[in-house]
Amino acid sequence: MNVFLTGVTGFLGGELAVLLSKDPRVERIYCLVREYDGVEPTARLRQVFDFHGDAFDESRIVPVFGDLKDRRLTAKLAEDQRLQEVETVIHSAADTSFAAASKDNIDKVNIGGTLQILKWAQALPNLNTFTYVGTASICGTNLKGCHIQEDQSPNREAKHLVRYCYTKMRGEMLVRAAIPKEKLLIVRPSIIMGDSRDWKPRSYVILWALAAMNAIRLIPTDPHSKLDIIPMDYAVRAIAGLLFAKRRWTTYHISAGQTSATNMEKLLAALAGPPNGHPKVKFVAPELLAQIKKWPKKLRPPSDLFAHGEYLDYWHTMFNGNLRIIMAGMEPYFKFIELDQTFDNSRLLADTGLANPTPPHEYLRTTAKYMNEIDLAEGALDP
Ligand SMILES: NC(=O)c1ccc[n+]([C@@H]2O[C@H](COP(=O)([O-])OP(=O)(O)OC[C@H]3O[C@@H](n4cnc5c(N)ncnc54)[C@H](OP(=O)(O)O)[C@@H]3O)[C@@H](O)[C@H]2O)c1
Repeated sequence: MNVFLTGVTGFLGGELAVLLSKDPRVERIYCLVREYDGVEPTARLRQVFDFHGDAFDESRIVPVFGDLKDRRLTAKLAEDQRLQEVETVIHSAADTSFAAASKDNIDKVNIGGTLQILKWAQALPNLNTFTYVGTASICGTNLKGCHIQEDQSPNREAKHLVRYCYTKMRGEMLVRAAIPKEKLLIVRPSIIMGDSRDWKPRSYVILWALAAMNAIRLIPTDPHSKLDIIPMDYAVRAIAGLLFAKRRWTTYHISAGQTSATNMEKLLAALAGPPNGHPKVKFVAPELLAQIKKWPKKLRPPSDLFAHGEYLDYWHTMFNGNLRIIMAGMEPYFKFIELDQTFDNSRLLADTGLANPTPPHEYLRTTAKYMNEIDLAEGALDP
């Protein structure tokens, strides 16, 4: 199998490239990489493999220079004769930011970039499978408190908490319209956080939010709201499993499902608190978030928040003026938690033979030791 993979320098794409590179059924992996921060694409690709000391075989792992925002990308890929042997496309690249300020870039990458890849892939002489890495969160906020099936999305009426989710839904719709069913594979991971293996995760995304909640201690959310979270190693094993499986469906949740779902109470109980006398974790009404956000600047009594004075004193010493930034970054996460959603994974288990993933409150014991490296204020700038 010859693969074309986008998003290889990202959290999921990197882990997937390494996993596929070890599979003898995979001949070559062409990786779309752009120059970034002055580091040229080949060096960036090598860094992906160096991260955990994996072998980088240049005859099999081939960089293809390109940017999803380049309007000539489709033509450039079509001109590259090496790519004519590609049979499997895996489109994982996306702008995954929750920040409203990134709207333009999110649209260009997640909708415009997906179109460019699609137009090129449609004309491939040997295309066998087009894999779109979507997200289960395209289901939107309408399905609050539900255990969601794959066929409940995409839904044009869905309301989304952040632009990212909307654009991922639009991207999936474009893919569905362009690729015939027999060549189509849509994988929709739920929330990917950390790794259940005892090693440094490739990205602190989501773990950052958990570290921030653990530091704040006064949490404005329902402790029992269900959360569907999986580790990265499970996510990539599931995607690779589906690539080679006899598939009965086009669309699969890659998720914890009801069996392995978690909640904030269990997640925070699995972590040690921050060092130096800190108050116990306390869950408060979601409405208090607005007051917590105002507190560092101008909130004055009377406010319900002053009933939790122990936490206000603790924040003074702990956050050194950064609480506002951290809270702003965490806001979308609080809203996602309130959705109380799990995603059915029975298709995945049936077609791949995989077991349910380890629940995050169990594998956190392994991955949590790397959380000390997280800079809360820096993570909050691009949640
Ligand atoms: N992580 C999760 O919890 C989660 C959950 C559900 C679904 N997903 C989906 O999984 C996929 C991968 O997510 P991730 O967590 O791995 O994201 P990530 O770590 O943010 O990686 C994003 C990747 O996309 C690439 N990219 C962004 N803009 C690009 C551009 N203009 N041109 C070329 N490449 C570009 C990035 O390349 P640079 O390094 O050059 O920026 C990077 O390789 C996404 O489609 C996401 O929607 C993720």
